Amino acid sequence: MGELDVVSQGAVLIGDDGRIAAVGPYPELRDMTRSATVVEVDGVLLPGFVDCHTHAVFGAARLADQERRARGVGYKEIAAAGGGILSSVRDVRERSLDDLVDLTRPRLEALLRHGTTTVEVKSGYGLELEAEIKQLEAIAAVGDVGPDLVPTFLGAHEIPAEYREHPDEYVDLVVGEMLPEVARRGLARFCDVFCEPGVFTVDQSRRVLVAAQHHGLGLKIHADELDPSGGAELAVELGAVSADHLAAISDAGIDALARSDTVAVLLPGTMMFLGLREQAPGGLLIDAGAAVALATDFNPGSSPTVSLPLMGTLAVAQAGLLPAEAIVAMTVNGAAAVGEAHTRGQIAPNFRADLVLAQVRDWREIVYWYGANLVSEVWVNGSPCHLQEGTVNFLV
Ligand code: NIG
Ligand code: FE
Repeated sequence: MGELDVVSQGAVLIGDDGRIAAVGPYPELRDMTRSATVVEVDGVLLPGFVDCHTHAVFGAARLADQERRARGVGYKEIAAAGGGILSSVRDVRERSLDDLVDLTRPRLEALLRHGTTTVEVKSGYGLELEAEIKQLEAIAAVGDVGPDLVPTFLGAHEIPAEYREHPDEYVDLVVGEMLPEVARRGLARFCDVFCEPGVFTVDQSRRVLVAAQHHGLGLKIHADELDPSGGAELAVELGAVSADHLAAISDAGIDALARSDTVAVLLPGTMMFLGLREQAPGGLLIDAGAAVALATDFNPGSSPTVSLPLMGTLAVAQAGLLPAEAIVAMTVNGAAAVGEAHTRGQIAPNFRADLVLAQVRDWREIVYWYGANLVSEVWVNGSPCHLQEGTVNFLV
């Protein structure tokens, strides 16, 4: 992860099928480009970023949560005062599908404008069959916006208010009703669970994920976010494609991930936004041999950001990644964390021509100039995306 192949005066030849046909120094490729349309660009061209963990379908922002946190109010008290995940659940349940689609579109455009060409998007603010399906339908409906979307069913994101006293019955509902319907309609590629003390136990998470596996879904886990509970180990045991968060991962969890193909997904924006000091031990994970990816966790409660490069900066500053490791974590390994390592995340022959152009001279600047958007052009599947001029617009 610590080394990048950098080509100066480079050229990329894109075929009519939207795939990369060749890459190398322009003088070497010049002959192959005789019949091609030539687009000259200045800056650094990278593989399109893969944001492998978002909750981009939601209703309103949670401004009151942020203000309460700033006054020193804790996570549980905020939830008790009507904030937290369940406030987004009440909100999403009340909205129409069209409303959710209208809210999600500009967010995906904003992700694209920050260089993200593939976005994993989770449900999980419905927590009842109809509302979970509505979120997944919203994801399916916005697939035309630009970035390629990977839908994930997260029915086990939180225990809804009506099941507080008997959480196992909610797990029964997820396993017995929601999963079969989601699978029957082909609305999700992955199933995720928030495995955390006080939310879903390791045993409950295992029940949901084993059932998901039977329905042919790939697996992901929100693991060891705030307290260690063995979520990373469970991810490895079940062959999950990723274990995400990991700020409270145990030594045994690091060891398990290091000896597996499960990608360790770090979400440093979440810890930063929640004002928590701990970041996942990214450097330790990489040194132990784990594959590390980065994602925004884009959601209204704990990480309202669309900038994967900003996550790169945080990972370098706070989670022990080298700049090269951060770039790999945003591209190659992000692709692996959505089961697409063979199709995207690299500028290499036969890969999708998902490309991002940054207005810098040196690739290290991508994770250096934090807070500024350096992206000037994006190609998805070989086609240029006509990025709208002006500022990102959340005025929906
Ligand atoms: O990944 N950890 C659980 N879920 C989200 C938070 C979602 C929310 O607060 O709305 C996360 O951080
Ligand atoms: Fe999340």
